Amino acid sequence: MIRIALLPGDGIGPEVIRAAVAVLDHCSRVYDFRYQSEWFDLGAERYLRTGETLPDREFARLRDEFDAILLGAFGDPRVPTNVHAKDILLGLRQRLDLYVNLRPVLLVDERLCPLRGVQTGGIDMAIVRENTESVYVGIGGSFKIGTDDEVAQNVMLSTRKGCDRLLRYAFELARTRRGQLVLCDKANAIESAHGLWRRSLKDLAVQYPDVKATTLYADVAAMRMVTHPHEFDVVVGDNMIGDILSDLAAALVGGLGLAPSASTHPGRVALYEPVHGSAPDIVGTGRANPLAAILSLGMLLRDQGKREAAAAVERACAASVVARQCTPDLGGALTTDQVAAWVSEHLLA
Ligand code: NAD
Ligand code: IPM
Ligand code: MN
Repeated sequence: MIRIALLPGDGIGPEVIRAAVAVLDHCSRVYDFRYQSEWFDLGAERYLRTGETLPDREFARLRDEFDAILLGAFGDPRVPTNVHAKDILLGLRQRLDLYVNLRPVLLVDERLCPLRGVQTGGIDMAIVRENTESVYVGIGGSFKIGTDDEVAQNVMLSTRKGCDRLLRYAFELARTRRGQLVLCDKANAIESAHGLWRRSLKDLAVQYPDVKATTLYADVAAMRMVTHPHEFDVVVGDNMIGDILSDLAAALVGGLGLAPSASTHPGRVALYEPVHGSAPDIVGTGRANPLAAILSLGMLLRDQGKREAAAAVERACAASVVARQCTPDLGGALTTDQVAAWVSEHLLA
């Protein structure tokens, strides 16, 4: 029995999570496993109604009573401070200490790549983003706001433990893939916080002689991802570098509508979510691509030991793109719910 908490969130979040749940329901029957799910009313609506973002009692339930959380997106133009998204999304990552944010990037149809001459399968990387540190820790503040003397500061924090545990995960992952790991940083400018990453990499690399570990400055990494995307296997970055590179990489294989992610810490409830946001510009139009959410469900199923079901979900998602049975962002003409129905019907294909 898999216990899944559903946090649809804002904007297109509920649309893509509803689609993913339709696939989950079908998948559980085809692959004969049981799951329990519960919807959580967290997001902009509730915040505007009650002022609550992520109350302690709900946080404790998510932490203690579920195996996994499937999350849509948070962000609403009516909440310009984005305070609820910070509390819920960044709050869950921080408070559950979900230090790995894994973002696989795979070109399933060469037609989706905006670069010339890249074949299907020619881009296959795993972005391993640190998920609890860097400038996301919320240390800092503003002073003399609104005056000519205004001062604003956000601390970029790296810890030895944080670097070591993420890199260890990335080395282990590289062993199961093509054996290459590249750390992307700005150690040339950010000497302390990113210098620590390089020392951690150097010390750990001796324990993984079978993995080719290298470093790239993140600006050069952004360029090389466009000019030589096939060179990248496991890509490691701190919280901010990993965030930026993951959108870039997603754009090489079909865009945000196709980019899933998992935030994990072994032994704890894990969080699965599309990389994209709440896309206020397309809410309610049926144009929201549910494949990123469905592929995030695939990652959830694999982590829960349902390997066959996970592989079927991934295969059916790729098939929907190849057959153009997808939303307009990928060149199709189906709606969000129609894509979910197509994927469900092709789980055995
Ligand atoms: P976004 O990802 O919501 O949208 C960027 C562009 O991609 C838009 O044009 C949108 O229409 C398109 N897009 C995104 N997802 C799509 C999908 N599934 N199908 C088709 N098109 C899709 O980024 P944004 O516009 O910068 O942010 C909107 C809000 O979402 C902001 O409040 C932001 O903070 C928030 N956000 C939340 C998350 C999250 O909850 N994980 C992630 C990123 C952004
Ligand atoms: C993501 C998003 C979030 C992040 C935002 C909404 C705070 O861009 O999940 O990639 O920066 O982590
Ligand atoms: Mn992002």
